[in-house]
Amino acid sequence: MKAKERKKLCIVMMGLPARGKSTHAKKILENLSKENLNVKVFNNGDLRRKYIKENTSSFEFYNPDNQKTVKVREEIALINIRNAREYLRSKGDIAIIDAANVTRKRRQIVISELADYNILFVECVNEEEDFLNICVETKTKLLEFSHLPKQEAYQNFLKRIEYYKKRYVHLSDEPNYIVIDSLNNKILKEKDEGIPYYHLIRDILVSDWIHNLYLVRHGQTYFNLENRIGGDSELTERGMRQAKDLAKHFKKTDIHYVFTSTKKRTIAIAEEIKIQIPDIEIFPFEEFDEIDTGDCDSISYDELRLSYPNLYETRFKDKYNFTYPNGESYRTLKGRVQLGLKKALFLSGDVGNMMIIGHRGVNRIILSLFEFRNVEDVPYIYIPQDKYFHITATQYKKLIEMKKFSAFD
Ligand code: F6P
Repeated sequence: MKAKERKKLCIVMMGLPARGKSTHAKKILENLSKENLNVKVFNNGDLRRKYIKENTSSFEFYNPDNQKTVKVREEIALINIRNAREYLRSKGDIAIIDAANVTRKRRQIVISELADYNILFVECVNEEEDFLNICVETKTKLLEFSHLPKQEAYQNFLKRIEYYKKRYVHLSDEPNYIVIDSLNNKILKEKDEGIPYYHLIRDILVSDWIHNLYLVRHGQTYFNLENRIGGDSELTERGMRQAKDLAKHFKKTDIHYVFTSTKKRTIAIAEEIKIQIPDIEIFPFEEFDEIDTGDCDSISYDELRLSYPNLYETRFKDKYNFTYPNGESYRTLKGRVQLGLKKALFLSGDVGNMMIIGHRGVNRIILSLFEFRNVEDVPYIYIPQDKYFHITATQYKKLIEMKKFSAFD
């Protein structure tokens, strides 16, 4: 390798469709660009859509036994690899090839075409079935599927994944690689034989990457008025006014994804936002449902104190660890909220800005995941209904600001 090339690097993404490759590629691009490096992503799919005029969304195009389409796909892949090589030959410091690269043969081609440069493979895996369904659904909203009914597009994409699975060989013989659980941002396997920027890239992959997260609590409900816990109460007139104020406040904000719980009070807010920003997609996640108050569901705090004095006292003594009979504690709530947040970050990854509309307990947990808090303080964090939290996070900094949106209170 010539001295000039010694620090030049090609990062080669690898993984089945809908496993977060593009999100991670973009995350690496954004973060390495901040290091004053010339970085560019080379995406096979973009090239395919540019060069092939007919629609290539049909799963048959990905059939590994169809000689004709295999040839076309190999040609596209080679152009992409060579574009990346040209970039490294000229001003590029780091090229990122964003493609499935699931066969060893394809990876061998990459290695020989880029023999003058360092190569790091990054395999993205994620096999959480329920969640994958949501990921596949979002893929089928792409323009190339617009001619198909929703269910047909969904089945089509699943068959495409099956074809890729047929030839899939995990990384293991390649000289340098990172295998990442791309939902949980956890490194599963790695090998580094002296790749430049390796530790930086590793840090980027495992870190939270949030452009803008707007964390909102639902407005006033009938249960709030009566000081009742749990339930699935509707918003009051005041709660609806808060929702409208919130929606107006965000009217001009660049938001793509809104995550709610499955409860009426959070979905109602998201629907108001959709009136102001019609392009948003709403995802109701059970993971963001309020702390499960079990046998105490729907009772008021006064009833809890008078009818269940022992419970009331135990809760008072250690609110974080207190578990409602047949329900949850803040400690157990943390696990599922954390999973919900990971899913939300994964889905919104390559567009960046998102909103979560949650509940008092849920939002306390989300905040505690970004700022250090003693666990005993977490169940007391102030979560108002007329203000929201604006969170941004990279591997270097985290910023949390509380902002007012409503004329109420
Ligand atoms: O808004 C009421 C509520 O969301 C209840 O449903 C929930 O049990 C409670 O707040 C959580 O707050 P705390 O743990 O302080 O009672």
